[in-house]
Amino acid sequence: MAEVLLRVADLYAGYDGAAVLEGVWYEGLREELVLLMGPNGAGKSTLLKTAVGLIRPIRGSVEVLGSDPWSDRSVRRRVAYVPQQRTLAVSSPLRVVDLVEMGARAARARGARDRSDDAMERVDVARLRNARLLDLSGGQLARALIARALAQDPDIYLLDEPFESIDRPSEEAVVSALEEEKRRGKHVLLSEHHVPDPTPFDRVVLLNRRVVAIGTPTDVLSDRRLLTEAYNGKW
Ligand SMILES: Nc1ncnc2c1ncn2[C@@H]1O[C@H](COP(=O)(O)OP(=O)(O)OP(=O)(O)O)[C@@H](O)[C@H]1O
Ligand SMILES: [Mg+2]
Repeated sequence: MAEVLLRVADLYAGYDGAAVLEGVWYEGLREELVLLMGPNGAGKSTLLKTAVGLIRPIRGSVEVLGSDPWSDRSVRRRVAYVPQQRTLAVSSPLRVVDLVEMGARAARARGARDRSDDAMERVDVARLRNARLLDLSGGQLARALIARALAQDPDIYLLDEPFESIDRPSEEAVVSALEEEKRRGKHVLLSEHHVPDPTPFDRVVLLNRRVVAIGTPTDVLSDRRLLTEAYNGKW
């Protein structure tokens, strides 16, 4: 049996005491790449934020490597979270290399500089290393944030619509970096509205405040009835 790295059980979570997620169950396994889909407002970002300990569950539980990420700060270092970009306002004069090295240092691992260089190479931001974040294009910033996540060398990656502003060749570079992380035993949970090719994903989760369906990309994405249900009848 594959090891469960992320366990979500009967989760109710939201904002100001009002639940967006209502009874979500999920087990994220070691060596797995999972696509999280669902309509706007389905709670995808809420689920990822709760899984990294930014939101406290109203009911139910989230466990990262057996610990509660809300109360156990040390376990949060084992999770790399890349927030949805349209919620980010980056006006930082920090350089790309500073951001990525912060990721490596967050993990308190040795060889932070080498790992950061390697991470920047993998998603093609090495030549931007001295650029300021505020000067980057949307796609360059997205890749810098993914490089930071790679440098952190976490057990779990939570990526919220990472491809929103990334062009096709860069998307392929990011997907292959994530596939490599999966083979290294990581769990990757990635939310996205459209992926050109779902075959790298082991499972697809359809979320609409609860888990509507979970299965292989072929099973889930070819089932019109499920998609219609998840997308409020508008698929
Ligand atoms: N900070 C917040 N305060 C109050 N309500 C919020 C907040 N963030 C999100 N919500 C609400 O929670 C619900 C779920 O939002 P969430 O961002 O998790 O959806 P999503 O599935 O990520 O959508 P999208 O595809 O648009 O990114 C929405 O109705 C949203 O308005
Ligand atoms: Mg979202």
